[in-house]
Amino acid sequence: MVERNILITGGAGFIGSHVVRRFVTKYPHCHIINLDLLTYAGNLENLRDVEGAANYTFVRADIRDAEAMRRVFADHGITDVIHLAAESHVDRSISDPMSFVTTNVIGTVNLLNAAREAWKGAFEGRRFYHVSTDEVYGSLHDDSLFLETTPYDPQSPYSASKASSDHFVRAYGNTYKLPFVITNCSNNYGSHQFPEKLIPLMINNIRTNKPLPVYGKGENVRDWLWVEDHASAIDTVFHAGVNGETYNIGGHNEWKNIDLVHLLCSIMDRKLGRAAGESARLITYVTDRAGHDLRYAIDAGKIERELGWKPSITFEQGLERTVDWYLANTEWLEHVTSGAYQQYYQEHYAQR
Ligand code: NAD
Ligand code: DAU
Repeated sequence: MVERNILITGGAGFIGSHVVRRFVTKYPHCHIINLDLLTYAGNLENLRDVEGAANYTFVRADIRDAEAMRRVFADHGITDVIHLAAESHVDRSISDPMSFVTTNVIGTVNLLNAAREAWKGAFEGRRFYHVSTDEVYGSLHDDSLFLETTPYDPQSPYSASKASSDHFVRAYGNTYKLPFVITNCSNNYGSHQFPEKLIPLMINNIRTNKPLPVYGKGENVRDWLWVEDHASAIDTVFHAGVNGETYNIGGHNEWKNIDLVHLLCSIMDRKLGRAAGESARLITYVTDRAGHDLRYAIDAGKIERELGWKPSITFEQGLERTVDWYLANTEWLEHVTSGAYQQYYQEHYAQR
């Protein structure tokens, strides 16, 4: 008997595909409905290993389409939502902010309305899980950490759109008593990440002997978490989190961009049989990102104390696995770096 019909939005993307795979394989008594528009960032190749599972359904739909969201709730008897669909790349939000408003803000409100209407106030056993980012807290300029109580201070169009969607989710919880949880996570890395983001972009460029574009002086700091650990945290919060609560998720793993790029170069030199220092010669300093946040760092104490979650592997282990995956999946890289992405890449880096 099917216990729950869980709608996962953005399941063909980077993090979403790891969450879908985990839920489809770990919870055979739950039906997983993966809703994704398949933008440039969505790729069903990410889910080839689970697409034939009896408890899995893919629906191509746009969260910006309110009527389509209502239909999905009705057609599939949705009991829970894990909402990841979003425009997720900061650089794209600088060149095209409106796409971030329509998808991240309006799309989230469409889902909230669809859930509210479908569940008709019978909220017992229902859950709307909103996946958000640490970027809503802004940029750190001292050695403090982001807590769940840190005031919102988004600095980019992307983080402003995610902050706005978080506010809407809380407002629906307060106004309509919609049962929700929110998590705010730090930078993810791992397999199946679109190579516009720092780590896969650097791996791909080292592999193909292209320049490694480091923004500004490379002094910005990010807190990196292995994507499968994020998926395990989402699983934990989905099942054990308290309605109305927020949990920060992070890796306790801060790296300056330039140090991380050097580390990747040395791993790649070893894997590709290059002389030490060869890949690092590709490092090229380019014009900084506009309004570039200096440092993000999460205090993930609450989720560890209250729900017993913590990362399962070290950064060194995660990076080895990640580099190995990209080197073993060059066909995947070729597929996602063709076509529209090539055009974006040329336009974006031509301006730097
Ligand atoms: P991604 O860009 O890899 O994937 C986004 C997915 O959403 C894609 O499959 C895309 O097709 C889909 N999508 C986009 N617009 C849509 C629309 N209008 N309707 C339906 N589907 C649509 O993103 P990601 O890195 O996997 O991030 C997933 C979520 O996690 C986002 O909400 C993001 O804000 C959040 N997050 C990401 C990170 C990170 O480091 N990547 C960290 C914290 C939080
Ligand atoms: O903190 C969580 C966020 O992490 C998520 O919410 C976002 O969806 C995700 O994209 C990520 O945002 P960042 O802007 O931190 O990630 P990105 O990989 O784009 O950049 C990481 C750092 O590397 C940042 O300081 C900018 C820098 N950078 C990035 C690129 C793509 C470069 O120096 N060169 C590059 O070519």
